[in-house]
Amino acid sequence: FRIAVFASGSGSNFQALADAVQAGKLDVRIELLVCDKPRAKVVERAEQAGVNVFAFKPKDYAAREAYEADILRKLEEHEIDLIVLAGYMRIITPVLVEPWYGRMINIHPSLLPSFPGLHAVRQALDHGVKVTGVTVHYVDGGMDTGPVIAQRAVSIELDDTEETLMERIHRIEHELLPHVVQRISQDKVRLTGNTTRFEEGRG
Ligand code: GRF
Repeated sequence: FRIAVFASGSGSNFQALADAVQAGKLDVRIELLVCDKPRAKVVERAEQAGVNVFAFKPKDYAAREAYEADILRKLEEHEIDLIVLAGYMRIITPVLVEPWYGRMINIHPSLLPSFPGLHAVRQALDHGVKVTGVTVHYVDGGMDTGPVIAQRAVSIELDDTEETLMERIHRIEHELLPHVVQRISQDKVRLTGNTTRFEEGRG
C-alpha cells in the first residue's frame, strides 16, 4: 500500500508517519512527498527517510491546474493508493479532488466543523472553547470540509497559549494520523455518502 504525503512546512506529521513505518507500527510504503516549497524542512526529512520528493514552485506554473496535472502524473507513476495531506497549505482544485475523492485525507487541528481554515488553534483560543482537538477527514472540494474519519478531543487549560496548546495537539496528531492511515490500508474505513465507518482496531 503506497502513500503520498503532501506537506508545505516543518513536516512533523510526515515524520510521525515515517517513524511509525520504521517502528513496524504502520505497514505502508511512504512512496512520495509532494511539496510546494522546495526549501521546506519536510523535504530534508523525506530525503533522510529515503522518500522520493516532488518539490515544485507554484510560480513556475501558469495556474493551479497546471501543477496539479504534474502532480497527477507523479501519483500515477508511483502507483499511489492514498494521498495524505499533512500541512499542505494550498487550495486543491477539482483536477485533483475529483479523481482522488475517497482516496485523499487531511489532518486538521480542530474538531471540525469548528474552526476550519488557517490558525485553527488560535481560533479555538480566541473563541474561548474548553475543548478542541484533531480531525482526520476525506478531502472534498471545500476548505476542511469532507466526511470525518476520526477525531480526538484535547482540553484547553486556563493558562494555555497558542504554543502550549499546539504542542499537545501535535502530540495527538502524531498518534492519530499513522493510526488512521494504518486502518485505511487494512481496508477498515468505509465511506458511504457523507459518513464513514471507522473500525478503530488496535495500535
Ligand atoms: C498540523 O497541525 C496539521 O493539522 C495542519 O498543519 C499542521 C502541519 O504540521 N494541517 P507539521 O508540518 O506536520 O508539523
